[in-house]
Amino acid sequence: MRVLVTGGAGYIGSVVAAQLLATGHEVVVVDDLSTGHADAVPPGAQFHQLGITDLDPVIGEWGIEAVLHFAAKSLVGESTENPALYWRNNVAGTVALLDTMKAFGIGRIVFSSSAATYGDAEQQPIREDAPARPTSPYGASKLAVDLALTDYSHAYGFGAVSLRYFNVAGALHAPTGSFGERHATETHLIPNALRAAAGAGELALFGTDYPTPDGTCVRDYVHVVDLADAHVRALGATEPGRHRIVNLGSGRGFSVREVLDTVGAVVGRAVPVVERERRAGDPPVLVAANERARAELGWAPERDLTAMIADAWRFESGRPDRQ
Ligand code: UFG
Repeated sequence: MRVLVTGGAGYIGSVVAAQLLATGHEVVVVDDLSTGHADAVPPGAQFHQLGITDLDPVIGEWGIEAVLHFAAKSLVGESTENPALYWRNNVAGTVALLDTMKAFGIGRIVFSSSAATYGDAEQQPIREDAPARPTSPYGASKLAVDLALTDYSHAYGFGAVSLRYFNVAGALHAPTGSFGERHATETHLIPNALRAAAGAGELALFGTDYPTPDGTCVRDYVHVVDLADAHVRALGATEPGRHRIVNLGSGRGFSVREVLDTVGAVVGRAVPVVERERRAGDPPVLVAANERARAELGWAPERDLTAMIADAWRFESGRPDRQ
């Protein structure tokens, strides 16, 4: 299939674009490079430096059959300070993209949604039919697009899948190159812990008084290559007139301290830690119920936390922009 990947110069978009190429799809990437990197676009993909609101009429020249939509602002803290940026980029931008797709007769879409749509859920593991009560404008923006996709599928026959990611980690090391996380502002635990273990200072551990077994937050980590595999499957599962919402997580939680222990074991040096106050908006526990992904996509995660950290470490130690 000939697929448009928006945000294909970013972390998850570049890994999925590489996996799509590896599974025989043709890939066109658009990315405005506001946070992505041109050299992250995998070899073999056609690349256009464009935003998602700039695709009418050029999309008509590319022969696109489906869209995988990753382009978005994705910092929870920033979204709280500047919600307008999130409503404009993530919501208004995506509605413009959907309308361009509609105008050009492209009805298949796989969307990067998030566990942030659920907010502080009452029950763990979180099922897709749990109440969606986002606690940040970032989560609200992802939920707004999920709601739009339901309406566009019912009224206009779109075949849509929203994939609600839990905590994505790891990197893809492929014959065509390595693709991983290199955010200018890095807020995520695993890359920050790897840098601290490598000597870049102390890791700030946000909160040790949560109602969890060791007092630190519990998260459900999923390897970015497993996540990419789910996208390839979701593309095949799109059905006109239907919007599926599917969690992507392992179903198992790890505390921050467990992650730090695993990072220490992989790197061979303990992570130096400084304990800090809780970070605003962090729910104590986020773990996915993943039965729907198993049933509807035939997907199951295959790579464990150690593999995620080892692949992230290999990427972090050989980063093209740090050589
Ligand atoms: N943490 C630290 N120190 C750090 C970074 C993180 O202690 O330097 C802690 C956080 O407080 C949290 C856990 O490690 O308890 C995981 O934090 P991440 O930032 O790695 O991930 P989040 O769970 O906050 O965020 C993930 C996704 C977001 C998504 C969010 C939904 O990365 O995109 O889940 O809640 F919005």
